[in-house]
Amino acid sequence: MQKRYVIITGANSGIGRAAALKFATKGYNIVMACRDMEFSKTVQKEIVELSKNKNVDLMQVDMSSFNSILTFCSEYKIKYEKVDILIHNAAYFNHGEKYQLSPDLIELTFATNVFGPYLMTTLLKDHLKKSDDPRILHAGSNIIKHFFDLKTKIIFDNLQGEFKDSRPHRVYKMYCQSKMALLMLTFRMAEIFKDDGIKVNAIQINGAKMSKRTIKKVKPWWRPIAWMQNLFIPPTSYMANNYYDICTSDTFQHVTGKLFNDKLEVMQVTPNEYPGFFKQVKRVLGSSVYPTYANNKDAMDQLWELSAELTKHYSVHSTYNI
Ligand SMILES: NC(=O)c1ccc[n+]([C@@H]2O[C@H](COP(=O)([O-])OP(=O)(O)OC[C@H]3O[C@@H](n4cnc5c(N)ncnc54)[C@H](OP(=O)(O)O)[C@@H]3O)[C@@H](O)[C@H]2O)c1
Repeated sequence: MQKRYVIITGANSGIGRAAALKFATKGYNIVMACRDMEFSKTVQKEIVELSKNKNVDLMQVDMSSFNSILTFCSEYKIKYEKVDILIHNAAYFNHGEKYQLSPDLIELTFATNVFGPYLMTTLLKDHLKKSDDPRILHAGSNIIKHFFDLKTKIIFDNLQGEFKDSRPHRVYKMYCQSKMALLMLTFRMAEIFKDDGIKVNAIQINGAKMSKRTIKKVKPWWRPIAWMQNLFIPPTSYMANNYYDICTSDTFQHVTGKLFNDKLEVMQVTPNEYPGFFKQVKRVLGSSVYPTYANNKDAMDQLWELSAELTKHYSVHSTYNI
């Protein structure tokens, strides 16, 4: 079999770890793109042992830092000839009111979950083009259901700390908005990358069991809720199998610009109006439709321009301009 290369960000825990194991078991060459090298080395060793696949590499990246992403991509390109699959799985999630800035002075949630993935894809685009079947997958969340309320929008004017000391801030809200932004990037990138044959899709994750380590990272008052949720939600391997299918199955070889639900059905956009109470409940509880806001052209344009603007000093290192 021809060598196939998979990059998975945040592959040291949760769904990312399970996905790395799945791909490794199936004989792929894995690059675990992780921040914490000491902890990740142990996970890398486990994956090699369990999968009996030695081609599991570990490379350092902090997805909230443009410089770190540039270093990662440059080193990756020296080591490897192409990228077949790029999975943007890493994400920053928490609660609380503290506004945090990334090393590039961007709100931390957006830096990690939106602009970091944008830059990494931009820098790797030429390498993705070298694959005969390049696929990108974005890890989405059912948290975007908040956008079924038509008043909910991405707030663009405070992403660089403009009102960090004067406006109330909720990390949970930023996470929600960042996942909507990532979905918008999915749609826009899919359109732009079509001629190059690069497929870009997203998966809406409703829940996957959280590890002890992940639960420790969130605010103490939220931990009991996370433990409770863990009793009812599927194991990480379930979502990892979905990642695998979307990125490898012939069924999805030509599918791009779609949002999948956890049953691997393509989700549809809702009509742009307030439904009656029962329809709204059905939308919120179900996984067949996503909010109209995801197709909002003005917001998408604004997001696209901002992503390009914020990353421009780094994306010049790409041999391919998007
Ligand atoms: N689990 C769920 O119920 C659920 C629900 C909806 C959506 N999702 C989405 O599914 C994906 C995986 O979630 P999960 O629950 O498996 O998460 P997880 O176990 O908490 O893992 C998150 C991963 O992201 C990494 N990460 C965070 N910030 C990073 C940064 N700046 N640079 C590099 N890596 C960074 C973490 O690395 P460190 O070890 O260095 O922190 C960790 O490896 C995420 O995109 C999440 O938003 C999950």
